[in-house]
Amino acid sequence: MAFIEIAGGKQLNGEVDIQGSKNAVLPILAATLLVNGITKLNHCPKILDVYHMIKILEAIGCIVIWEASSLIVDTTKLNTSTVPEGYVKKMRSSIILMGALLGRTHTAIISYPGGCTIGARPIDYHLSALKKMNVSLQEENGLICCTTTGIIGTDIYLDFPSVGATENIILAATLANGKTRIYNAAREPEILELCKYLNAAGAKIIGAGKNQIEIDGVDELYNVEYTTASDRIVAGTYLAAIAGTGGEAVLKGVRCECLQSVISILREMGCNIICGDDYIIISSSGRLKPIPLIRTMPYPGFPTDMQSQIMSVLMMATGTSTIVEDIFEGRYQNVQEQIKFGADIQVNGREAIIKGVPLLNGCEVYASELRGGAALVISGLMALGKTIIYNPDFIERGYEDICRDLRELNADIRFIR
Ligand code: EPZ
Repeated sequence: MAFIEIAGGKQLNGEVDIQGSKNAVLPILAATLLVNGITKLNHCPKILDVYHMIKILEAIGCIVIWEASSLIVDTTKLNTSTVPEGYVKKMRSSIILMGALLGRTHTAIISYPGGCTIGARPIDYHLSALKKMNVSLQEENGLICCTTTGIIGTDIYLDFPSVGATENIILAATLANGKTRIYNAAREPEILELCKYLNAAGAKIIGAGKNQIEIDGVDELYNVEYTTASDRIVAGTYLAAIAGTGGEAVLKGVRCECLQSVISILREMGCNIICGDDYIIISSSGRLKPIPLIRTMPYPGFPTDMQSQIMSVLMMATGTSTIVEDIFEGRYQNVQEQIKFGADIQVNGREAIIKGVPLLNGCEVYASELRGGAALVISGLMALGKTIIYNPDFIERGYEDICRDLRELNADIRFIR
């Protein structure tokens, strides 16, 4: 049984490069289907979710080759619009293949993604938007069969700025007839990345990163090379680790802009953070102030993907903090594991009250999802003594090599397969 072993209680110091963005690369890999040709995607992270998406692309006829940290995707031999059963259940974010397959082939047959540990994760916004774009949907024994005589651009009003729904609409609209406007669109940096990639391939998209995005359908896209930005959540995770353990470090290849809400919380807790052109310097005493209230929100608010990690840091703050998780109803799964370190956390529905304690002790814990698992790594680094984290594959879904990166920062951590 694989596990991560940590000898905690050490300050983190040094420099670390930040990997490419998981949540930008996944929708871009789906978007490569809209290019009847070749995409070269640079700075692609070698993580389980990317490997999974590659398997799906190969299963439907694409040729995908690694060249160092670049992926070459050739979709000219795409031979089906049916995403093989089971893939979506293993990685629900592959639901964005729906919009891309519809845009390329006017058909998409894909299994209903289940919920996951962090929530039910419905796709009603995706389906209602596609219906408005002249897509007909049949749902039968867990499959969604989508067909269209041609996607027609239209105005879409999202009830909630859903990242995935915004991405699916953009993918369906890129080769559509006419203009699509998305109102209340998600503003996450990953949406901007997707649109920069599509525009580099010949799409006509404006407003990405704002809450209104306009897509003028074009006839075709062309071979393209694109370099993905660094992963802001991986960077935020490492900032939280350095904040919690104390120390000083440089995160290279990442900018503060996409992490403003996280950086302002860390500064409020007492960290000193300097923003460079493509680096962030953080220093921390390790004994930080509590935060009266952190509420997770759509971008640019505090990201739900950083909620578990900041909770680890607050576990040793000099007072009581409150977190409200407003995005995913199941994102306190790892609190029981956090309490094994000696944390004092009370969960009431969407609210978690964290009373800071002066000391955490190493222990054996189990990861049950990606960001909660990363938070357990942070707690293990902060705790005195040895920590063992089982089910590290959850962490490998989004972190290329969390042990390698943290060893760059002087952590005593290793992955035992
Ligand atoms: C994306 O998930 C990210 N995943 C998530 O990151 C991230 O937490 C989330 O956006 C929010 O930022 C990828 O990009 C691959 P949503 P997504 O649609 O698209 C509800 C990670 O750790 N909703 O913005 O699934 C939904 O239930 C992952 O890297 C509907 O009700 O998020 C949730 O409460 C975890 N109906 C809220 O909206 C819908 O049709 C936000 O979901 C769609 C969503």
